[in-house]
Amino acid sequence: MLVLGIETSCDETAAAVVRDGKKILSDVVYSQLVHQKYGGVVPELASREHIKTLIPVVQEALKKARVSLDRIQGIAVTYGPGLVGSLLIGLSFAKALSYSLGIPFVGINHLEGHIFAIFLEHPRLKPPFICLIVSGGHSELFLVRGKGDYLNLGKTRDDAAGEAFDKVAKLLDIGYPGGPAIDKISQKGDPLFFRFPRAFLKGSLDFSFSGLKTAVALYVLKKRSEKSSFPTADISASFQEAVVDVLVEKSIRAAVSEGVGKIACVGGVARNFRLREKFKKKAREENLKIYFPSPILCTDNAAMISACGDFRLSRGERAGLDLNAVPYAELV
Ligand code: KG4
Ligand code: ZN
Repeated sequence: MLVLGIETSCDETAAAVVRDGKKILSDVVYSQLVHQKYGGVVPELASREHIKTLIPVVQEALKKARVSLDRIQGIAVTYGPGLVGSLLIGLSFAKALSYSLGIPFVGINHLEGHIFAIFLEHPRLKPPFICLIVSGGHSELFLVRGKGDYLNLGKTRDDAAGEAFDKVAKLLDIGYPGGPAIDKISQKGDPLFFRFPRAFLKGSLDFSFSGLKTAVALYVLKKRSEKSSFPTADISASFQEAVVDVLVEKSIRAAVSEGVGKIACVGGVARNFRLREKFKKKAREENLKIYFPSPILCTDNAAMISACGDFRLSRGERAGLDLNAVPYAELV
């Protein structure tokens, strides 16, 4: 089956064509640049950008896949969670296309889309496994018992990991989006320069990053008020190390307590160099296997939405034209 995927939940306008949930024929992602000067996503601007770029992005995806619209057999579109205005653009477009072509469409939960990035990358990976989703909006741990069968083990109580990266980068004035900026500069820094607090929340698999963010802010503000300089690369690396320590430690704890030998790490933050490095090292020590999608499938994309759509459409699932955008949709 040829599935056209559409993803507009935040500031990426994306479309992809995937065959049988496995073979990516095209995967086009337009990352909106208008937000750069604000240091964060401006929801109203994001919606307007999606309106301008969605049709060209879909056309490009079809062209790259060398597939005409009449060969598409199903449409998968993110219906939540995300920014309501952004979600509505993709959803309305998918509905109109589905209706006019007379083909089915399904609404995809964005988090389940991220999980399907790992099935795209590692088609032979069999559940059960632990899946850590770390992105700009989410930090959640799931036990994946099967495709479509998930158990939530923990989630962030405040900031998501990616959000903490973005906010700390803004504080340090090193660019937007913050995650890649911190990743890059930290490679020249000392992760042991300053020990920022790690919130392990004893007995729970939840996360909390706001205390860490505040600790970095207090450090930076104190230095600035004293008019003394501080090494940005070292502070970035020390902050990053604290995030990575907690993410790795909790994922391993989840795998051990659930008795599974495999961990997948997905979402934008899964691109992070240090996170990948430490995960590999610790997993080896604990005799666990760790899986990542390739970088392009970590950050928001529509190939993962198509793959998930293929799974749901193949099970006979269909969405009605009354499907609404759900900004706070939960996976389970
Ligand atoms: O999955 P994603 O594209 O969007 C959401 O679903 O939120 O994730 C975006 C997040 C941003 O917060 C961005 O700063 C972060 O992923 N990110 C990174 C890296 N690349 C992207 N964080 C740390 N290191 C990176 N290399
Ligand atoms: Zn995402």
